[in-house]
Amino acid sequence: MKETFADRLKQSMDRRGFKQVDLIRLAAEQGVKLGKSHMSQYVSGKTVPRTELLRFLAENLQVDEDWLAGRTPEGEAEEPDGTRPAEVLSAGEKFQETEKTGGIKMREFKKSSKLNDVLYDVRGPVADEAMRMEESGTQVLKLNIGNPAPFGFRTPDEVIYDMRRQLVDCEGYSEAKGLFSARKAIMQYAQLKGLPNVSMDSIYTGNGVSELINLCMSALLDDGDEILIPSPDYPLWTACATLAGGKVVHYICDEQAEWYPDIDDIRKKVTDRTKAIVIINPNNPTGALYPREILQQIVDVAREHQLMIFSDEIYDRLVMDGEEHISIASMAPDLFCVTFSGLSKSHMIAGFRVGWMILSGNKDSAKDYIEGLNMLSNMRLCSNVPAQSIVQTALGGHQSVKDYIVPGGRIYEQRDFIYNALCDIPGISVVKPKAAFYIFPKLDVKKFNIVNDEKFALDLLKSKRILITQGSGFNWGQPDHFRIVYLPRIEILKEAVGKLGDFLSHYRQ
Ligand SMILES: Cc1ncc(COP(=O)(O)O)c(C=O)c1O
Repeated sequence: MKETFADRLKQSMDRRGFKQVDLIRLAAEQGVKLGKSHMSQYVSGKTVPRTELLRFLAENLQVDEDWLAGRTPEGEAEEPDGTRPAEVLSAGEKFQETEKTGGIKMREFKKSSKLNDVLYDVRGPVADEAMRMEESGTQVLKLNIGNPAPFGFRTPDEVIYDMRRQLVDCEGYSEAKGLFSARKAIMQYAQLKGLPNVSMDSIYTGNGVSELINLCMSALLDDGDEILIPSPDYPLWTACATLAGGKVVHYICDEQAEWYPDIDDIRKKVTDRTKAIVIINPNNPTGALYPREILQQIVDVAREHQLMIFSDEIYDRLVMDGEEHISIASMAPDLFCVTFSGLSKSHMIAGFRVGWMILSGNKDSAKDYIEGLNMLSNMRLCSNVPAQSIVQTALGGHQSVKDYIVPGGRIYEQRDFIYNALCDIPGISVVKPKAAFYIFPKLDVKKFNIVNDEKFALDLLKSKRILITQGSGFNWGQPDHFRIVYLPRIEILKEAVGKLGDFLSHYRQ
């Protein structure tokens, strides 16, 4: 038999140990009109209360109002005793939920307000929609994440072989900063890159560079401390600095100047509270590689204002056109620098989660900060030990990545293809990337009337089943850019760019 309002009312009264008189007394105390006869009619099932009385009963019995009213997902409710029917709320799912809990109003758990301004749209709402499409059987071409393995970039055999051999020796935690062999190999790499004042103690391994970015920002920033981060950026930097309580101040990278950091803009934005500057070189999302002159100007500003330098160099081996990557830390022996790199990109093993950071230069000035880093590093015990065990193998000997970045190599040829193909689409302009595997084209927003780049990404996804990340996902202020990961083979890129061109031939927002 169908449960009635009276059944639910009695259930709720029993649960709280309330008699009719208790509710009548409470009503009088709260200035609500509830007579004896009304109450007994509700309990006997002769009639149901009006909206205000229903609310009073739900509140005082601590049950969900929709559940008590019997508002079903279709919005049906029993007729109240007055002329006005109980309001029908969007009750569907809520009703089902409260029915499961016998009408008790469940506590709602909200995320921390610290996350309010945190953004990570590389895996945001558009990517969520792509996942929903895939779950319902629609294939989506994912050009949103720099994950080499799904596109056929395989880990060198030697790395797999060496990890297998060492696996049984990697069952325990390592030292917090990492295995000796891994750190030694990283130290030698740092020497080759010319990083000054690096000892074994200066090297920390992490579960990817991602973990270390978070760690560094948490150790550094007090509420309101400022940090200069590029726009566009790899958004984890802004996200972690914000989460740590810092105030992120974005400096512009200039598309008209090969996407190099705009030094005047940096100078304008330094204040008394600026603690550090972040550079991403080679850059994600623009694919820019910074020449010595630009790095020198950044060092000059950092020196003048005594800023710490964080340099994310995870793409340092993915540099094309015969160019050379320069570590900014090698130019600043008198400043405190933290340089980040890892094996996710240059060694195509993003899933193993191997990253590291190297402290260099003036470590005396950062003694207390280093204590903070050590504390946080100790607290996470250590990074993945099997992954650390192959750092030495990966960093030494033949570097398979070199074959990808020269003419005839996959990354090089795919870069040339995507660049030329994008240039051929009316309404798109683009700077040719020199490094990494991303390209950051510009849309003619007037032509396409684009005001919201997330909507653009979503429309493209729904129409052509291609997932890209919109520029605002990289803390870029205008709705006029998007990023493509050009890791897929040329045949697939060709199809994708064909579809993009077709989409843009009629797209207007
Ligand atoms: C610039 C940059 N830094 C850091 C990372 C994080 O890399 P991981 O955590 O895999 O080492 C990425 C990943 O895409 C990146 O593009």
